[in-house]
Amino acid sequence: MLNGGGMELSDVNQVGVVGGGTMGFGIAINFALAGYPTVISDLNDEVLEQSMANINSALNLFVEEELTTQEQARGAVERIRTTTDLTEVASDSDFITEAIVDRSADKRELFNKLDDLCPRHTIFASNTSGLVLSDFGSDVERQDKLVITHYFVPPHIVPGVEVAKGPGTSDETYDITCDLMDRARKIPIRLRKELPGYLLNRLQGAMAREALRLWAEGMASAEDIELGVVSTFGFRMPHEGPFRHYDLSGVWKWPEDIRSPRGIENEKIRNRLAEGTPWFVDPERFDEALEKRDREYIRRLKELYWSKLE
Ligand SMILES: NC(=O)c1ccc[n+]([C@@H]2O[C@H](COP(=O)([O-])OP(=O)(O)OC[C@H]3O[C@@H](n4cnc5c(N)ncnc54)[C@H](O)[C@@H]3O)[C@@H](O)[C@H]2O)c1
Repeated sequence: MLNGGGMELSDVNQVGVVGGGTMGFGIAINFALAGYPTVISDLNDEVLEQSMANINSALNLFVEEELTTQEQARGAVERIRTTTDLTEVASDSDFITEAIVDRSADKRELFNKLDDLCPRHTIFASNTSGLVLSDFGSDVERQDKLVITHYFVPPHIVPGVEVAKGPGTSDETYDITCDLMDRARKIPIRLRKELPGYLLNRLQGAMAREALRLWAEGMASAEDIELGVVSTFGFRMPHEGPFRHYDLSGVWKWPEDIRSPRGIENEKIRNRLAEGTPWFVDPERFDEALEKRDREYIRRLKELYWSKLE
């Protein structure tokens, strides 16, 4: 039996998911499809029956949409078992993800119980949206084995997962977690520190707050705000986030006095933008990058918009 240190991805043989609700059942699908025996626990059998029903219908859709074969889906379902007994998850799981209610006290109680019940090497990951390990994980002895894996709904489909460290998370735990995400065909987004709301909910939240404020001020109807987001920068987003957008829109070539967004006082940002260089795109191959972008956009335009006009 492993005793904490020297752990590798290959030492993860079984995974546990505590909380089989909206997020938990989808998180379990990822692991089971990747070949891991997966145990889900929740408070009662009715919830767990619903989790299994959700898993079956989600995997049926995967098969219908040819994301997986019938055999792969069946194999995944066979690898999942459910229990109301936390000790069953704790005793044999090498990596446990909690997806219970987002309340600090509940997560603290759960992590403390798991700390008592699990072998020393077991990693505990939290799917919290806004809480931090330095708060609810502070009583846990294995500080090096705590990590955040923040999925996005629906977690069995959306590929990106934020992976964040708590104050004591070891590099080993962090690396195994990122490798496990790769193995489960998720995309780990490596965060360098913990912060309430982490990274992507802060970005999403900034837009949601502004959308609500502008709606309340009567700038546009909810329908038009929605349409505007989806048909403009939302249309581009599968290809570009804020940094690639800065590159591809050519803002880096603008005169320095209009290159920075207005009202930015931060010196690090000002210095970086003063360089007048793109973040990712090779300036020598800028035209090539634009053509690649345009081809992708044209395909999306035909598929999402023009096909509906015919
Ligand atoms: N729903 C989202 O969009 C979303 C996105 C990202 C992260 N999250 C986070 O994921 C976590 C779960 O959210 P959700 O939307 O799946 O909630 P949910 O209410 O759908 O599911 C939570 C499940 O946990 C169970 N549960 C509660 N306390 C428990 C305990 N002590 N032991 C075992 N099971 C327990 C509940 O019975 C329920 O089935 C939260 O921390 C939330 O912030 C949610």
